[in-house]
Amino acid sequence: MVKINKRKFYVTTPIYYPNDIPHIGHAYTTIAADILARWYKLKEYDLFFLTGTDEHGKKMEQTAEKAKRKPKTFVDGLIPEFKNAWQKLNVKYDRFIRTTDSDHEQVVQVILSEVHKNGDIYEGYYEGYYCTACEAYYTEKDLIKDCCPIHKTKIEKLKEESYFFKLSKYQKILLDLYEKNPDFISPRYRSNEIINRVKEGLQDLSISRTSFSWGIPLPFDKKHVCYVWFDALINYLSGIGYLEKSKQFKKYWPADVHLVGKDILWFHAVIWPAILLSLKLPLPRKIFAHGWWTINGEKMSKTSGNVINIEKLISFAGVDSARYFLFRETPFGNDGDFSESALIKRHNTELADKLGNLVTRVSTLAEKYGLEKIKSSKSLDSSKTINKTVKYIENYEFDKALNEIFAFIDKCNEYIQDKKPWESHDKKVIYELSNGIKSISILLSPFMPETADKIAKNFNFEISLKSLGTSLQVVKIKKSDILFKKMEETTTVNKKQSSPHAQAKQENKIPYEDFVKLDLRVGKIIKVEDHPQADKLYVLTVDLGEEKPRTIIAGLRLKYKKEDLNGKLGIFVANLEPAKLRGIESDGMILAAGDNYDSIVILKPEKEVKPGSKIR
Ligand code: MSP
Repeated sequence: MVKINKRKFYVTTPIYYPNDIPHIGHAYTTIAADILARWYKLKEYDLFFLTGTDEHGKKMEQTAEKAKRKPKTFVDGLIPEFKNAWQKLNVKYDRFIRTTDSDHEQVVQVILSEVHKNGDIYEGYYEGYYCTACEAYYTEKDLIKDCCPIHKTKIEKLKEESYFFKLSKYQKILLDLYEKNPDFISPRYRSNEIINRVKEGLQDLSISRTSFSWGIPLPFDKKHVCYVWFDALINYLSGIGYLEKSKQFKKYWPADVHLVGKDILWFHAVIWPAILLSLKLPLPRKIFAHGWWTINGEKMSKTSGNVINIEKLISFAGVDSARYFLFRETPFGNDGDFSESALIKRHNTELADKLGNLVTRVSTLAEKYGLEKIKSSKSLDSSKTINKTVKYIENYEFDKALNEIFAFIDKCNEYIQDKKPWESHDKKVIYELSNGIKSISILLSPFMPETADKIAKNFNFEISLKSLGTSLQVVKIKKSDILFKKMEETTTVNKKQSSPHAQAKQENKIPYEDFVKLDLRVGKIIKVEDHPQADKLYVLTVDLGEEKPRTIIAGLRLKYKKEDLNGKLGIFVANLEPAKLRGIESDGMILAAGDNYDSIVILKPEKEVKPGSKIR
């Protein structure tokens, strides 16, 4: 049986750039962390699960600029999207850290001072390449046709004074670390590339910039802001209270695992340990890099219009089905391909037919005939399944863990078929099967918490390891509701997604991703003036909750008097490219209904809401 002991486990996800709404890639790591967190909580470990957002840097500054927002206002608007997504996916973190949190900003400054004091930061001049989309430095030989090797876009050449972190000093220590701890970088097949690159030699890392200001100032030279990755990595320390070297920090550091995508392994397996070595702090136990999801065989990207956001992911089949699919379909570590049809297939055959039917059949029989306790069940012994599942989960082999549980579900289904308790009314057989279902639910609970809870309520057991090791009480059981409704493969989203645009165009529809690009907001009209060059147009001054009001031209003059509009709320498109209308630039558009200028009516929120409120 699984041992309960009082150790700690500290798991982290990368902190995500809040430059858009979260998608399946973000969900993947976050659910993986949640699976581990739930598992170790089950084992009664003292657990800490940290996730959050990476909010500084040039990329965020530029994105906010495009949206005509200050960076902080812009990111503030996206944080609820992340928090809601995690809530919808049933992810239970302990802290959501933002790199704009004041305790984090303070920790970054303290650490910069410490590393500086230790002699690992020096002033210099950086001349080289930088891809803002990656927020990463490149050398000439990394480039492909003068472009960023990842984004394939033109790369910027930087020439500016900068402070450098002595990364090169740590080359040998890092190589020793990888050799002595072959699982430090996991899975092992991902470590060779890193080790070979480190062997080629490490360049000192430019850790400050002077050409923009959206970042944390260096405490020893306020002209410079800290490089976004140096800032971001430190979240793993600040998130658990590094500043006050609190009890919490002492308890949880070092992290047991940093879960990351394969693209950001270098930062975590090379730069991060070097920073920690400079600080003389213990190193994390493991950096685990997972693979990437393609969508129907294609790279997920905004331009292909195939980004799977969280709404879409859940709406396919529900939260537990989505969580199940992501971790059953492909080994954690490898790349995987997401398709709606593959998800529906697993949902129907594995969740509805195998698990769902088993639970419905057994609970129906239990309600009808009752249970009778027997000492131990040799025929449906789940101990091997339990042992193997534990080993797989703790080894990050989530697909194998689920395979193992489902092999046991198959065994239960064969047993019921063989014993036919609906004919024999054998209460002992029903009891054995109910115990099997208990083991299945507890083992599945980290992956599918909602389903496990439903079953536990029905069969009246607790989701705990103690309950995994004991047999069920004989109680009255009620027939379970259907756990998974079968799905039909009807939706359009997945029909050969390589051409969703062609298909959508035919139907004159736009993909959801295009719709969410519209930034619709409530605005308050604070001034109305006649357009000097056009008798149908007004020049409106509109408060959209920003620092400065905007000028927006509207064709409302034939219908509305100035006083009918002044001080009124309206609904505006806030991210329309500015356009000159008869010599005056209009920075947005008011929404109105009607076929012509004199019958038109403006759209308004039903009740008074703050200017700037987003329309969803
Ligand atoms: N802000 C940095 C991380 C700093 S951690 C100290 C960052 N953010 S990100 O938002 O760009 O990406 C976060 C994660 O999403 C990465 O781990 C990346 O691998 C993952 N994914 C992005 N697209 C993905 C897929 N298509 N599939 C799986 N994961 C993907 O990098």
